[in-house]
Amino acid sequence: MCGIVGYIGNREAYPIIINGLKRLEYRGYDSAGFVLNYPENFELVKTKGKVSELEEKAKASKLTANVGMGHTRWATHGEPNDCNSHPHMSNNGELVLVHNGIIENYESIKIKLKELGFTFQSDTDTEVLVNLVQYFQDKENANLCDAVRYALNEVVGAFAIAVMNNRNTDEIVVARLGSPLAIGIGEDEYFIASDASPFVEFTKDAIYLEDGEMACIRRGEKIDVRTIISNETVAPSVQELQFDLEQIEKGGYDHFMLKEIYEQPKSIHDTMRGRLLTDEGIIRMAGIWDHQERFNSAKRIIIVACGTSWHAGLVGEYLIEELARIPVEVEYASEFRYRNPIIKKNDIVIAISQSGETADTLAALKLAKEQGAFIYGICNVVGSSIARITDAGSYTHAGPEIGVASTKAFTAQLTILSLIALKLGKHNGNLSKARYHELCLELENIPKLVEETLKTNDAVVEIAKKFKDAENFLYLGRGYNFPTALEGALKLKEISYIHAEGYPAAEMKHGPIALIDENMPVVVIATKKGHYDKVVSNIQEIKSRKGKIIAIVTRGDSQVRELADYCIEIPDTAEEFTPIVASIPLQLLSYHIAVMRGANVDQPRNLAKSVTVE
Ligand code: G6P
Repeated sequence: MCGIVGYIGNREAYPIIINGLKRLEYRGYDSAGFVLNYPENFELVKTKGKVSELEEKAKASKLTANVGMGHTRWATHGEPNDCNSHPHMSNNGELVLVHNGIIENYESIKIKLKELGFTFQSDTDTEVLVNLVQYFQDKENANLCDAVRYALNEVVGAFAIAVMNNRNTDEIVVARLGSPLAIGIGEDEYFIASDASPFVEFTKDAIYLEDGEMACIRRGEKIDVRTIISNETVAPSVQELQFDLEQIEKGGYDHFMLKEIYEQPKSIHDTMRGRLLTDEGIIRMAGIWDHQERFNSAKRIIIVACGTSWHAGLVGEYLIEELARIPVEVEYASEFRYRNPIIKKNDIVIAISQSGETADTLAALKLAKEQGAFIYGICNVVGSSIARITDAGSYTHAGPEIGVASTKAFTAQLTILSLIALKLGKHNGNLSKARYHELCLELENIPKLVEETLKTNDAVVEIAKKFKDAENFLYLGRGYNFPTALEGALKLKEISYIHAEGYPAAEMKHGPIALIDENMPVVVIATKKGHYDKVVSNIQEIKSRKGKIIAIVTRGDSQVRELADYCIEIPDTAEEFTPIVASIPLQLLSYHIAVMRGANVDQPRNLAKSVTVE
């Protein structure tokens, strides 16, 4: 949460910062600000609201410096207003700081600084930190690097920060603990950002700071990376970025979310490419292969995740238990980490995370690792924190996902989980050769089926028109498609702000049925192979209470068509893979309803894509 961007070099910094902030807006958009560093003075502009509002406000400024930094905020401490926006300046006006994260002990530091005569304008923890740096700079007569290091050794919490001093336009100091920070290395120039998207068109070389590291970035010099605790020099490892500008632009679509929905045939295919070798009867996944023994002897798999990734985990539970017969538990990472869970040495803990940065998921994994479990990551962002701390893992290869509501990352996660379940089931002998082969062929065909399913778009638009003003929605499914129902409901809530609940279809009679009347749209996933008759009975129950039924059915279905008010047909496939296909019309439904209601689809209120605070 919160995005940081910075530049030092020979170009004008402002366009790099403002465009970078636009790309990082998925991390939070409560307020935005930037500061440019001219000899002896800062130009600091900040405002409540989006980066476009900052751009408007900046028109009155000079904007010609070639060093500066910016911030887009997801508010934690202090409401979103101009004053709480970043950058924050120290009392003496010499230091500015941008921050992503939370300083947990800021109150006690603030009290001490106040006793020393410091004053504070904002409610933020960040303003406390910048003044703590000033305090050390004055007290120790320290240079910026040392003052930042002293200050960071006093704080408890999570941070990615960038700091500048107006006595020196040739230097930016950055540091990270728990929040990501990348440094792009160009020729005689450096870029700083929460992820590499703000600088991918300028350089493909990047350093990802590790937790507990800081870097002094000075014009014309090599980057100086050190540990925050002990000031030891670290040799940074330079990585080559694996994506380009085209992948992070809208490419003619109105919204990133729509682009990402339509990218799914490709992203699912990319996730399987080189792994699912049906002709050879092989699933090649180095992360599993290299640790086959651990997987074979695993007594239990625990999946930890948040949000949409948690829903993918639920499908993973059905897949792994059915195909590989290994017990699976799926846990909200935020609950798991604080409830003293029982973790044994032969447990495998799998974290699922698009961003690879979600604070709760990361903490849950660290806990499992400390207690001796083997930890495995399913992440989309290459080089992310979760990907780095796990013993092994599989990337989803969905490409950058910018829309805050996850779509293509979800179906890519389902694809990876399908591959893992098939591979484990084959190796531990729970899956017959014939069934394994049959399922591999079905899975290989999924990108084509998703392509066909995208053609339901026009029908979905018609349904969206009918129900765009509904106040509530119910989503029902059974078996593999119970998690699909949860995900459909979450998508609608997130972007259209309509209250929606997902439920196992049979559980409806234990509560939600009381809500059903002629105004209640009920989306039911009723695929042919998934407890079909039982779901048909549930549909009857809704119908007799006059609920409006929107059914997702297998192509050629006639029975549900008789009962439902609206039907969306999806192509037939193995029940195990129906969540991938059935999710497509649900994504489209939430997208179109949100657009019709005038909501900001890519940046829904109060949400952020990368949740780096707990
Ligand atoms: C946020 C996002 C969700 C996402 C969740 C988990 O809430 O808005 O779309 O599912 O975080 O994120 P992760 O990156 O760990 O998958």
